[in-house]
This record gives sequence, structure tokens and C-alpha cells, in this order.
Amino acid sequence: MYQAWAPAAGPRLRLAALAAVATAWPQDTPSWPKFPGRKVQVLNGTWQFAFLGDVPLSAGIEVADVATDAVEVPDAFDMRPEVPRCGCWPEAEACELCCGRGFGTFGSSQCWQALPEEDRTAGFEQCCGPSPLRYRRGVALYRSFVQVPAKSSGLLLFGACTLRCLVAVDGVFLADHSGLSAFNVPVPASESTLRTVTVLVDNRFNQVTHPVHQLKYDWYQAGGLIRAVQFHSLRGLVYLQAVEVFPRSAAEVEVDFRLSVAAENVQGLHFRWRFDDTAEGCSWQQWPTVSCCSSNTSVPDAKLWTPQQPHLHRLKVALLLGEELLDCQEVRFGLRTLEAKGREIRLNGQKLSLFGLNRHDLWSSAVLTQEQLVQDVQLLKNLGANFVRGAHYAQDQRFLDLCDEQGLLVWEEVLGWQNTPQDFADGIFMMQSLKLADEMVAASVNHPSVIFFGFFNEGRSDDPSPATEAAYHSMSQRLRERSKSSRLISWGSNAAANDRYLHYADVCSFHAYPAWYPSDAPGNLEEVKGIPLIWEAYGRYVAELFPEKPLLITEAGAGGLYGHHGPSEEKWSEEYQSLLMQMHYLSIFTNPSIAGLALWQFADVPIDRQTSSEEHRPRGLNNKGVLSLSRQPKLAFQALRLLRNRKEGEYFGLILPPEDSERLTGLFKV
Ligand SMILES: *[C@@H]1O[C@H](CO)[C@@H](O)[C@H](O)[C@H]1NC(C)=O
Ligand SMILES: *[C@@H]1O[C@H](CO)[C@@H](O)[C@H](O)[C@H]1NC(C)=O
Repeated sequence: MYQAWAPAAGPRLRLAALAAVATAWPQDTPSWPKFPGRKVQVLNGTWQFAFLGDVPLSAGIEVADVATDAVEVPDAFDMRPEVPRCGCWPEAEACELCCGRGFGTFGSSQCWQALPEEDRTAGFEQCCGPSPLRYRRGVALYRSFVQVPAKSSGLLLFGACTLRCLVAVDGVFLADHSGLSAFNVPVPASESTLRTVTVLVDNRFNQVTHPVHQLKYDWYQAGGLIRAVQFHSLRGLVYLQAVEVFPRSAAEVEVDFRLSVAAENVQGLHFRWRFDDTAEGCSWQQWPTVSCCSSNTSVPDAKLWTPQQPHLHRLKVALLLGEELLDCQEVRFGLRTLEAKGREIRLNGQKLSLFGLNRHDLWSSAVLTQEQLVQDVQLLKNLGANFVRGAHYAQDQRFLDLCDEQGLLVWEEVLGWQNTPQDFADGIFMMQSLKLADEMVAASVNHPSVIFFGFFNEGRSDDPSPATEAAYHSMSQRLRERSKSSRLISWGSNAAANDRYLHYADVCSFHAYPAWYPSDAPGNLEEVKGIPLIWEAYGRYVAELFPEKPLLITEAGAGGLYGHHGPSEEKWSEEYQSLLMQMHYLSIFTNPSIAGLALWQFADVPIDRQTSSEEHRPRGLNNKGVLSLSRQPKLAFQALRLLRNRKEGEYFGLILPPEDSERLTGLFKV
């Protein structure tokens, strides 16, 4: 009965509404690159949606007659915010009114007048309660309509679609993608000028079909079209797949063009380009010509990209056949050099001291607004971080754009978490992981902020089996080759001296959680006191065995329940978390054999309650954030910020609550 308010009311009505939407997609891509040679439509907006439940995923699922609701994409259907679902009413304002408990137990009774008394509760629950799909797993249907020029082929760009997605256009199945990363789907031309994009999303775990997502991973893996979707109308099958810029010195770059497959058989293609073109669009007539597909060149008016002065250059490239413009792309890049030398990581020849946090691209949802991304970057800057480790998957391109602009250095890594010898011996797992590596590099290779490409977070790098060795070898080789050695390759290792594959890494990156695990054991001050010695031992080990590889600590930390206070010895208190995080900070930044630290972690994140108990991950969260889920600072954030932003000669030691100060100051001695 209460369905009367849902737009799913009748197919006729739905089509009318969508025709209006189809012409109104935004044209400006949410992130770099830009595509002045194409008709771009960003399909962020209203799509049709239906949850099909626990059905087998197959391209053959009949979806034509499925009743749908209207949802806003990007969307994580299992993490929709717990606010009134305004789709129940035609006008958004009505939703506040109808669900506002201030108007009565069931909101404004006016909204429900048409319903018989007994249906009102159910109606209210459906329209105003938390989304019934929250934390549900199964198959969901997304569908939208795009107006395109007649007979144009296209390209669908997915920022991310998780966990596994089948993509069809006009009912023709085109792609099957697994894992969190950006990917593109070529769309063949058709007579039709209104194309139907259908995506079937499966957010269930399946060790056979998409082993790159696993239930045990330590964060909530949301399902849906969780990042922007774009539809590009192309002028033909010959187009620029990518323009990749590799800085080779403070003024020189190597530029590669990647062309679509169809370009191979075409004679007479030529290229023009211009650096830092300020004109709109793609007025190539006056631009210099350049040959395909790789060239070394100096950048006119070259300015260095540094964390302090993150100067960004741009490059427009036009692909031409005779006088006809086939495609045009504009990329943004930064001029900087990067190397690992002895104990040091050097940017532009200067030693870096990296300090930052691990960050999941999650708030209470996996769909983040631009404002939330800006806030996260500001909080990192505010803390005094110059580094962020994007855990544990390819990053949102909007976030990397912000890092480029703000001079924040980034570690980006391929989806993975505590992967096992069984995973490494699984052909599907490896094939998907290598594909995710390719996609990550393709999406991120022009970001000067990204200085690391990583993979297999805390995988079993101590395992001697040939499959495991091959996995570490092939992933590091693939990332290195694909990025032309422009990034440092590493993985967050928790295998310490048992890690067998460090010869494949450019930098040794270790994780350890002294004085934290097992998290139900009481706080132990002796262990806390021992933290500097632990890092000292890691430092000595790497310096002796891998004298050419710098050492980073890419995870260390402790949980602290936001708002829970107690003495500094008490586990789960904000005080204990702050004490531990400071011990890591102080011992690492007084140790010349360690090049940097990324604490675990930036903010609390939702976990899957099916994998973690309340003792291990209270409140359904991984509570090791220095910020709460909604970005409220905990004591650790405040203390680290003071330590980090202190002036030369100011106090450098533990910052403790007055009542603990006398007892505990001596835990760390410079
Ligand atoms: C959706 O696209 C708009 C316009 O390009 C952009 O501003 C916004 O950040 C995008 N949202 C996401 C989640 O990508
Ligand atoms: C560009 O320079 C690099 C060395 O920096 C070299 O390996 C590469 O072959 C050069 N490419 C071209 C097209 O000359």
C-alpha cells in the first residue's frame, strides 16, 4: 500500500522522470584527466535500483521487468546513511516533514493520511527507518540512460564498482570486474541515441569467482557503484587510451601515449601537444607536433613539485588524422624525482622524513563527498602529516588530486589483506591481483603525490613455497615495469626477520603492534617502555641485511574508544592509545635508521560484524583511529599534533594527563 509514495509506482511514470535526467548529467569530470575531445557525461545522479537478493550472479538475469527505486549514484547500497529515504516522496522537503519525529511518533500524519491505520507503521519503517539493505549482501541492479550522438562508440569509466560487477549496455553484456579499483569498459557504437547502462553488483564474498575480496579483511567492504561513473562518447574506435607523464629530472619528462587497439591499423595518425595550455577546449592548430608514442622532452617554464610548493603542470595532447581531431586529453603532473638510497628516501635529491597515517577511504559509508575528502586532507595537514598510506586498495582519484594540490605524499596499494599461500597459489586470485595492479597504475601514474605502489598488505611473505615467491616477484615486477620505475615498490610486512622476499622491494616496510595485541590482555608498561628497542632492532636488521634499502614503519598503533577515558595504563582508553602512539612517534623520529612512520590509523572505520567480535573490534569499528568515525579528534591526535608542530628546541617527550605525568614521563628518554 505505502508503495504509493515510491517512484517505483509505475513504469510509465519512471521513464518520463528518467528522460529528464538523461540530458542532465554533469559534464565536468570529478578528477583529472580532462577530455576536451570527447562528450563527457558524469553519471553521478539518479539511477534505477533494485535489490535482487541472494540470487546467483549471471549475465543472464532477466532484469527488464524488475520494479526499481530511484537512488543517487555513487551509492554503496549496504552502507546507505541512516537518514530518511527521501525517494519515498516526490519533493525532498516533504521527507523532513514526513519522517520528523517532532511531528508525532510517525512523523507528520498528513503524509500517511492515504494509508489505512494498520499500514502506517510499516510505511514509516520503510520510508524513515534505517535502510533495510544496511549490511545486506546479495545482488543489486543499477540502471541508467545516457543520451549519445548517433553511431558513436563510447567508454564507460568506473571509479570503482564492488565487489564484483557485470556491466551491460543495451542488454549486451560487456564486462565482468572484480575488486576495488578504477576500470574502463569500451562500448560499441549502435544506431540508438539513448543507451541503457545496466550494472549487476554482487557484494557477497566468493572465494572462487572473486577471491580478491574476502570476508576476513579488516574493514567493511561495501557493495555498489561506490565512486563516480562516466560515459564518454568517442568519435570512433581510434582514441587515446592514456597520456602518461614520467618526470625524469627537475625539467624533463618522458611522455607516453597509449592508443586504443584499433589505432594499430590506421596510417597517417599524428599528434600535437601543448604544455600548460590556458585556452578552453582543444585548439590544436598552433601546437607543436610530436611523434608517437614515447618522447623525452623538457617542460617549458619548468617548476618543481615539492610538498611545500606543489606546483602542477598540465599537458594537452591531440590525436589527429589529417585535419580531423579524433581525440584530445589533458593530464596534470608534477616535476619531481624520487629515489631510495641507503637509509634515505629522497625527493628531488633531498632526504624525506615521512610522517603520516594509514587511511581508509571510508566514513560511515564508502561513498564520500568532495567535502569529506577535503576535510580528511585538511585534518592530515593540520596534524602535521606529510604522508598518507591509502589502505588497502586503489584510492579515489579525487583524493589523489587533493594530495597533489596539497603536497601530501601517498602510498597507494593493490587491494589485499593478510593473503595466504592458498591465495598465492590460486590462479584467479593472482590474475585479478595483477589486473588490479595494472588498473591502479593506469589511474594514478600521473599523480606526483603518489610515491609508493604497494601490494599484499601483511601477506604471508614468510612462506617459502614457489607460488608465494612467484606472487611477490610478479606483483613487484608488474608494478615496477608498468610505472617505469617511477615509484618505490614495497608491501606492509608483518613477517619481520622472516620476510623472505625483501629483495624484490625498494624499501622495507614493517608493521608491529607491541603493547597492543592480544587486545584483551591488560596494558603492560614494560612493553610500552620497550618500544624504542623494538624499532632499534628493526633498524639494525635492515641496515645490515639490506644496506641499500631504507626502512619505513607502515603500521603501528593502538585502539582507543572515542570518549572513553581512564588512566594511561588502561587499554582501550584514549589515554593509553595516545601514550602508545607517542612512544612510536618519539622512538622512530629519534632513530636515524628509519625513514618514516605511518601510524595505524587516521580515523575509526566500520568493520564487518560477522568477522570480528565485540571484544576484538568494539562498537563494530576498528577503533585505532586518532579521529573518531565522524572525525572528532581523540587525545592521540591532539598529542601527536603538539609533538609534530613543536618548534625547534621545544619540549620533545611524552605528553601526558597531569595525573599520570609523574608516574609515566620516564617511559621515554631521549
Ligand atoms: C560526482 O561528479 C561531480 C561532478 O563531476 C563531482 O563534483 C562529485 O565529486 C562526484 N562524486 C563522486 C562521489 O565522485
Ligand atoms: C627517454 O629517456 C629514458 C632515460 O631517461 C630512456 O630510457 C628512454 O629510452 C628515452 N625515450 C626515448 C623515446 O628516447
